[in-house]
Amino acid sequence: TDRYAVVGNPIGHSKSPAIHTAFAAQTGEDILYTALLLPLDGFEHQARLFFEHGGGCGLNITVPFKEDAYRLADDYTDRAKRAGAVNTLKKRPDGSLLGDNTDGAGLVLDLKRHSVPLANRRILLLGAGGAARGVLQPLLEEMPAELVIANRTQSKAEQLAADFSDLGAIRASTFADLSGPFDLIINGTSASLGGDLPPLADTLVAANTVTYDMMYGAQPTVFNAWTSALGAAQTIDGLGMLVGQAAESFYVWRGKRPDVANVITMLKQDRR
Ligand code: ATR
Repeated sequence: TDRYAVVGNPIGHSKSPAIHTAFAAQTGEDILYTALLLPLDGFEHQARLFFEHGGGCGLNITVPFKEDAYRLADDYTDRAKRAGAVNTLKKRPDGSLLGDNTDGAGLVLDLKRHSVPLANRRILLLGAGGAARGVLQPLLEEMPAELVIANRTQSKAEQLAADFSDLGAIRASTFADLSGPFDLIINGTSASLGGDLPPLADTLVAANTVTYDMMYGAQPTVFNAWTSALGAAQTIDGLGMLVGQAAESFYVWRGKRPDVANVITMLKQDRR
């Protein structure tokens, strides 16, 4: 049996084993996928053990090891290189490790599943940390009219805009200087974790605006609750992105594209 795992710290609440086990059953792939809690200074050693002696074929990497995984990889996909972080490692036939980042593909997959148009649209991305960086290349590949990045620390938004400017129409803004409305607003800040909202004007949201929070929970996020109250057309949380990035990792490893809809339904039932 080919072995896979998700590694992180903490890892206890990870949904990845349930997701990948469902994908495997659906596609008839014979794999074993587990969750491993690693000590904060233990990523490299444990990952090497897994691949060299544990029958490991692939790893998913979550907080706080995505940069460690980047350093461990021997080669990268373009999107991982741009992201500067790796959430998927694949052992190749020669034993070397390919580093990929499937987060942005997972987001775009979920937006398409919700029939949210991206080409020629005005998109606002809130946040300029690792989560935001990870989704920029796949978003720009959809050819939006404009992608504006706004962040509390403006220099980080400017850096991201500069790093990706060769891929499309991207620019940085402060929260205060934003002029809306936008067709799509994606919250890639971690503000929701603390129940916070970035300081945003009501005028950013119009009746046709779709908002997407990369976070998710049993209740709507603070951000989606705010845009919903302003009359946003559709508010989506990050559960589908989670399943989408998993589906993309599964494809990288097994060459098969699982159906995400059943698995999203299963997870929604679990969290009630
Ligand atoms: P992640 O991996 O989730 O992206 P990160 O790299 O630490 O984590 O980035 C967190 C992002 O959320 C940053 O854009 C951060 O803004 P700063 O760059 O100014 O720190 C943003 N963020 C966190 N808490 C926030 C809050 N209360 N209001 C607005 N932005 C916030």
